[in-house]
Amino acid sequence: MPRSKPDAAEKRIALTGFMGVGKTSVARHLANLLKCGRVDLDSLIEQNEHRRIAEIIDRDGIEAYRRIETANLKLAVKDSHARVLSLGGGTWTIAENRDIIRRSGLVSLWLDASFHHCWANISRSRKERPLARDKNAARTLFDERQEVYCLADWHFVVRPEFTSYEIAGQIVEQVFS
Ligand code: S3P
Repeated sequence: MPRSKPDAAEKRIALTGFMGVGKTSVARHLANLLKCGRVDLDSLIEQNEHRRIAEIIDRDGIEAYRRIETANLKLAVKDSHARVLSLGGGTWTIAENRDIIRRSGLVSLWLDASFHHCWANISRSRKERPLARDKNAARTLFDERQEVYCLADWHFVVRPEFTSYEIAGQIVEQVFS
């Protein structure tokens, strides 16, 4: 159930949730439905760094990656035309990032799916995810992050029978109406 309902029609939203939950595709449909711009934080990072995320994490380490991610998040929230922002799966777990998102006036929404659902998507995706190369390690991360994801303003339970398009439609109805 939502905790608060945004009052302004110009509300901006940041989608969080575990790897493989579908943040990027839901964000794409959401931006189409709202007829607004969107930023995918992972893509922005790769564009600005001229490297794949996997390469950054593997070569420079996860802490260096998190610093790059925060720097790019600061850029992303400045783009007021981009009302939809899809985060990386770990972005919301960093307190500084949560502050940046809140202070920029974005509503946060946790796309919450089962580990089974996320892992199935991770396994068939071509996207390389250094933090999910091993199923047990990914499961541990998934369990650890639940209590931080639930700090988001909205909690949206992703049911596997719904497509990303349908989920985006439900978010428009619940968050933007
Ligand atoms: C990460 C998730 C990835 C990407 C990076 C780290 C994480 O994004 O940002 O590999 O810490 O969960 P997706 O959630 O889009 O896969």
